[in-house]
Amino acid sequence: MNDPANLEFPPETMRAMGHAVVDRAVTHLAALGDAPSCGDFEGIEDLCRALVEPEPLDGTSLEAVLDPLFEQWIPRSFGTPGPGYLAYIPGGGIYPAALADFIADTCNRYTGIWQASPALVQLEANALDWMREWMQFPKSARGLFTTGGSMAMFNAIAAAREQRLGTDIRSGVLYVSSQSHHSISKAARLAGIAHDRVRTIAVDDDFRMRVDALQAAIASDRAAGLKPFMVFSTAGTTNTGAVDPIDAIADLCAREGLWHHVDGAYGAFFHMVPGLRPLLAGLPRADSLTLDPHKGLFLPYGTGALLVRDGEALRALHGSEAGYLPANQNEFYDPAQYGPELSRGFPGLRVWLTMKLLGTDRYRAALSEKRGLALWAADEIAKIPGIVMDAAPQLSLFAFHLEHPNLPTLEAQNAATRALMQRVTARGRVMVTGAQIGDRFLGRVCVLSFRTRRAQIEACVEDIASETAVLIAGDQAI
Ligand SMILES: Cc1ncc(COP(=O)(O)O)c(C=O)c1O
Repeated sequence: MNDPANLEFPPETMRAMGHAVVDRAVTHLAALGDAPSCGDFEGIEDLCRALVEPEPLDGTSLEAVLDPLFEQWIPRSFGTPGPGYLAYIPGGGIYPAALADFIADTCNRYTGIWQASPALVQLEANALDWMREWMQFPKSARGLFTTGGSMAMFNAIAAAREQRLGTDIRSGVLYVSSQSHHSISKAARLAGIAHDRVRTIAVDDDFRMRVDALQAAIASDRAAGLKPFMVFSTAGTTNTGAVDPIDAIADLCAREGLWHHVDGAYGAFFHMVPGLRPLLAGLPRADSLTLDPHKGLFLPYGTGALLVRDGEALRALHGSEAGYLPANQNEFYDPAQYGPELSRGFPGLRVWLTMKLLGTDRYRAALSEKRGLALWAADEIAKIPGIVMDAAPQLSLFAFHLEHPNLPTLEAQNAATRALMQRVTARGRVMVTGAQIGDRFLGRVCVLSFRTRRAQIEACVEDIASETAVLIAGDQAI
């Protein structure tokens, strides 16, 4: 403390700080099952106002910040890592990844260019290559770890735009379905494809992109002198879990010479399980694929990935040189040659270390279990009087609504379905959310947290059954 410019901590202090953090984190994880899945938001606005603070000119003790973090602030959030989190698309937070981040952050080696940390970059390349194999992409494919699915989408569009349009960007047209994730339109905007060059294709009764409508839209754009260049299909939509007819869309894209991207942010990792591959037929034919390890690989938020079949297309977009850096080499994977960043964290280590510690077969078992739980839950929920199943699980997500003589209008059914999600969530055992699709509000359940087991799914079915009974009884103010 006598030398304020010395920012180093003594080794014993660092050890003690590390122990204190691990202790808190592990205690927190052990209590997740008893915490309300929806979090506790009582008085949250006042809390946020009170949190506004001036810069801390003097340092404080670790304990002084760990107390409010773990006791007040972390509990006031959705219970995303908890076993009862069946809302949106569940994330992960598997423990070895946190250790990998700790190692990556304390050792702080530079993984932007291969020459700076060749062996570490190779571990990242290995993790990408495992994904390539699971997705049955060719050896010539290359990939990139991103911070999430949205950034994977952005890089895919930029690569396709560069290869297919060159400088003629305004002519290019890109196709999504009405059920595609909104991050695609946002990524298109970022990549220079304006909103008037993004076409939204209708879906069929199962929420899958209509290939005939896609074909017609492409023809109409060609007739108007525009250049269709890219189609997005989805391997598991966020709203209902629908898997687009990927094979048929791949056929159409091949005939029309279009870049076919598959958004597998939610569903692609089910392709790791050989027995589930038929559910995603055609996925290995994609020109590029969004993966979201912070969903289907149960990793912490901040881990997305992109695979591009023609690895050179990714390199053509990102490859660059600078006089002050070592010359590019071609033998080994080099992150800055395949992605937009130069200085960066070390995202590959959390993937690599987790796979090494658990072994990938345990992932296959867990993913199969989650799908089995969703199938079981959907069967049970479909039997509940008053529930209409709109989308049975293709992977591990399903959607439904309430319909009953006591709910005679669409408005009444929507309000009751919305209330069902809220009332089930308020019970605290599981958190579920719905989605507005056209004029209908659908309730949904998505099983993807590695911590979700049979007990939470039984609780989900029980709570949906009891709250449905209340809501269709007709005397409940919604
Ligand atoms: C199907 C789908 N695509 C893309 C995304 C966007 O991914 P991220 O939130 O990792 O940016 C999501 C997020 O839930 C998704 O469900």
